[in-house]
Amino acid sequence: MEFDPSKYSTTSFDSMGPALKLIHLIKKQIIDINQPLRIVDLGCGPGNSSCLLAESFPQSTIIGLDVVPEMIEHAKKNFSKKNDRFKFFVQDLGLPFDKWNTELRELLQTKQVDLIFSNYALQWIFNPSILGDSLRKILKPKTGVLVANILFSDILSVVDQNDQYECKLLEKYLHYPSEKQFISEWIFGLKNDAHLNDIWLHYWQPKCIYPEKYYRESYVKIPLKWHEHFIDNSVSEDLRKEISKILTKLILKKRITRIIPRKMNGLNHHHNDDVDVNQVKNGDANDDDDDDEMNDIEIEQQLWTVVARSSNDNFV
Ligand SMILES: C[S@@+](CC[C@H](N)C(=O)[O-])C[C@H]1O[C@@H](n2cnc3c(N)ncnc32)[C@H](O)[C@@H]1O
Repeated sequence: MEFDPSKYSTTSFDSMGPALKLIHLIKKQIIDINQPLRIVDLGCGPGNSSCLLAESFPQSTIIGLDVVPEMIEHAKKNFSKKNDRFKFFVQDLGLPFDKWNTELRELLQTKQVDLIFSNYALQWIFNPSILGDSLRKILKPKTGVLVANILFSDILSVVDQNDQYECKLLEKYLHYPSEKQFISEWIFGLKNDAHLNDIWLHYWQPKCIYPEKYYRESYVKIPLKWHEHFIDNSVSEDLRKEISKILTKLILKKRITRIIPRKMNGLNHHHNDDVDVNQVKNGDANDDDDDDEMNDIEIEQQLWTVVARSSNDNFV
């Protein structure tokens, strides 16, 4: 996966709004914020979500986990080296719990985790059942809570059905889960493997503003990587490139709304909080002849927020 921690930490404004909403929900409905909570941040990235947690829950300790070593290095440098309320570990959450880092396992295994938090990361875990089993082993029985924002991008809904070539290629080589399969796998993972009950789900579509040039050239690689994971392993390198090209086009088509710049005295103005309400749903987001690269765009995301609590049984 190509996550550049320094870039990510300064441009993750798409994820920070939903992270704050999740924290707001926890504070309002779930947990007394003044308790000395033990919080695990799954897929913590460069520590930006962990930092929000520490600020919001002043008595808490935060354990951030991420598979990318550079992300964890960044998080350590910026947070845990300055404040002992943070601990960060490189950890692939897709591995079974007995393969997790030994020190981390010892730290967590006592089942004393009050809150498992995850923002924009669980969609990268391709086996919810394996992670579910790990959650069961670390979350406090009876009172432990998991809260997560999980992304799903239904880009296939914008495939042009008249384009036989595109349709055939995707149908044959892209084993992309439907939203129904994807979300139900997560719910089953939480219910049957993590043994969580009282599961609450909320679907919404947060929006954020990005500079178009930046999103197209760099950030679009992140959702693309996720979609590429579902391309059949047997395809040749050339075909893979072809499918990736189609996927990029679909991601841009599905997610982007171009914001018409306001014209004043012949100049374009792009103030994010002063956006013209006239927007064009992007049928032409992929036009290559578009040279107005500094335009802002609005990105719409498809997000599932899930809250699930430990059951009363103390499963081992
Ligand atoms: C979009 S970032 C989210 C970062 C942060 N939580 C935030 O709110 O901005 C997704 C993170 O999930 C991590 N990730 C992906 N697959 C993972 C895995 N198998 N195990 C642990 N972390 C993973 C990535 O390295 C990345 O840092």
